[in-house]
Amino acid sequence: MVFNNILTEFDNGITTITINRPSKLNALNKETIHELHDALDMADGDADTLVIILTGSGEKAFVAGADISEFAHFSVKEGRHLSAEGQKLLFDFLENLSTPVIAAVNGFALGGGLELAMCSHFRVASDNARMGLPEVSLGVIPGYGGTQRLTQLVGKGRAMEMIMTAGMINAGQAHDYGLVNHVTTQDELIPFCEGLAQKIMKNSPVAISAAIRAINSHHQKGIHGFEVEIEEFGKCFGTDDFAEGTSAFLEKRKANFPGH
Ligand code: COA
Repeated sequence: MVFNNILTEFDNGITTITINRPSKLNALNKETIHELHDALDMADGDADTLVIILTGSGEKAFVAGADISEFAHFSVKEGRHLSAEGQKLLFDFLENLSTPVIAAVNGFALGGGLELAMCSHFRVASDNARMGLPEVSLGVIPGYGGTQRLTQLVGKGRAMEMIMTAGMINAGQAHDYGLVNHVTTQDELIPFCEGLAQKIMKNSPVAISAAIRAINSHHQKGIHGFEVEIEEFGKCFGTDDFAEGTSAFLEKRKANFPGH
């Protein structure tokens, strides 16, 4: 598939997806959102891809937000549709992907950019990264899940302050808040994420997908997370990965997971 706004690269179990509109600081226009959906869907369906790394091109921005030029003239109905369609196509879709996604936040992650990082399964930032949800400075609120996921990740008080002030926090503050798990230099960002991916890839892909479903269920309304955990735990016992993982342990050898 040919993409206009993203680059994809596969190497050794890892698909790296790079948002590539550097002249617009990788702002998410409609086409980019569709392309990201398609690229994530393809990578998720590819049995050789065990981890996805999501990053931005250039040294300045991960993603500087939704493309403001596309929605500046929207009506109430169009605004609602923009949010609903984007959440379904990309942000919820990404969060619920079975393949682990690491956001490598290499610069500005603002508005939809921070929302994209937040729906990834976890985040690593380079030390130049700046993060914020500046939507109220434009007269709107975060619409791609930001009010919900920022609150989940940093707590209500910090989310309120970040959203109300429309300010940016640096990588160190984001680390203190638990918004990113690690901070590296710019040069080290992708190798560091690849190192984490290597650790993930040693484990059962089936169990990792089950863990993603169980962890995500904590935040799903009307769903009892402990019940989901019991179900997912039980299902693992019927997988070849479980047979291999437990046999390898008992036979004192390294597991070679079949992935089903
Ligand atoms: N949507 C559309 N275009 C954007 C964009 C966005 N969210 N963010 C940056 N761009 C474009 C700029 O319009 C500019 O394009 P131009 O060269 O054709 O004029 C280009 O990217 C470079 O941005 P610029 O503002 O010149 O860079 P800067 O270093 O001076 O400032 C930011 C960087 C991130 C502080 C600034 O671009 C900004 O505030 N962006 C908007 C952030 C935002 O509000 N995001 C939430 C959207 S809901």
